[in-house]
Amino acid sequence: MLYSEYAKPWLFRLDAERAHDEVSGLLSLLAPFPGAAAALDALTGAAPTAAPRDIFGVRFPNPVGLAAGFDKDGRLVGILPALGFGFLEIGSVTLEPQPGNPKPRMFRVPESRALVNRMGFNSDGARAVARRLASQEKCAVPLGINLGLNKDTDPARAPVDYARTFRILAGHGDYFVVNVSSPNTPGLRDLQKVEGLSAILGEIQDANAAKKPILLKLAPDLADEDFEAALRVAEKLAQGLVVSNTTISRDGVDAKWATESGGLSGAPLKVRATALVRKARGLTKLPIVGVGGIETADDARERLAAGADLVQLYTGLVYGGPSTVKRILAGLETAA
Ligand SMILES: Cc1cc2nc3c(=O)[nH]c(=O)nc-3n(C[C@H](O)[C@H](O)[C@H](O)COP(=O)(O)O)c2cc1C
Repeated sequence: MLYSEYAKPWLFRLDAERAHDEVSGLLSLLAPFPGAAAALDALTGAAPTAAPRDIFGVRFPNPVGLAAGFDKDGRLVGILPALGFGFLEIGSVTLEPQPGNPKPRMFRVPESRALVNRMGFNSDGARAVARRLASQEKCAVPLGINLGLNKDTDPARAPVDYARTFRILAGHGDYFVVNVSSPNTPGLRDLQKVEGLSAILGEIQDANAAKKPILLKLAPDLADEDFEAALRVAEKLAQGLVVSNTTISRDGVDAKWATESGGLSGAPLKVRATALVRKARGLTKLPIVGVGGIETADDARERLAAGADLVQLYTGLVYGGPSTVKRILAGLETAA
């Protein structure tokens, strides 16, 4: 109520990235205060206690997580669990700091409950993120760290750079995600081809003495044979999948968005992302994190029924506000 009547109209008058920065700024200011997380928890409503689940060796208190991109630099890991999340995924984090694409680079499509973004991996860089995580209390829920690639990295160096990024952050995350599926770094998605993927995952696993779970995040726009080939590589070299990233398709939004480059997320992605989870589940037993267009308990339930072990959301939070996760958890509980 508070969100839809007061905060959302105000935030939606701001540019989408500015609104995100205002919310993140406020949350990170609150985070260090004792009691702030408890207050936010109380304000966003009660969450039922879900049955914990063990997936790729990590114990998740509930299956609803935050998708990558909301907290790229790990500034909010102390406070976001108060919204009910069963896990957080920070990043994408790149090896070296980089500013990302010029602004504006994030747009709301309110009539479709969608976003278009071409952030381009704005990142503080792996060392700064590692320092920040080391200086904070351990996250109250499992923490995933999503690994990206610097824009100016020669694709031939991608395996080495991903592995270096992983090494710097390895002690701070409970699981890691190799993101080769963002549409906003030129050439990145070509790394989803078998050769590139095998080299990247192989190099990371060579650096993975602690045997942290490594997940592969895929694009929804891969041709069937490339999707299947990527799954085969993942079966050999990864412990799970994240399905999916944003899409370059503009199905489900007004034609004017065809000329705005970037990845589309939110409601228009739901059917495609669900179908891909179902397809992946038919082909592999690897754990799957289902993401794309999840806004309600029904959406989450459908994704889990399609074969996901866990789900995540980002865009649903923008439209649904800070109580979204708890509404989803309550709805999942009711149906259980
Ligand atoms: C503004 C924005 C930034 C994102 N940044 C990243 C990112 O850095 N790395 C990544 O793997 N996914 C990123 N994503 C994709 C999300 O993690 C997710 O896969 C996608 O948005 C679909 O989920 P949703 O419909 O719940 O938003 C981003 C999404 C948005 C909207």
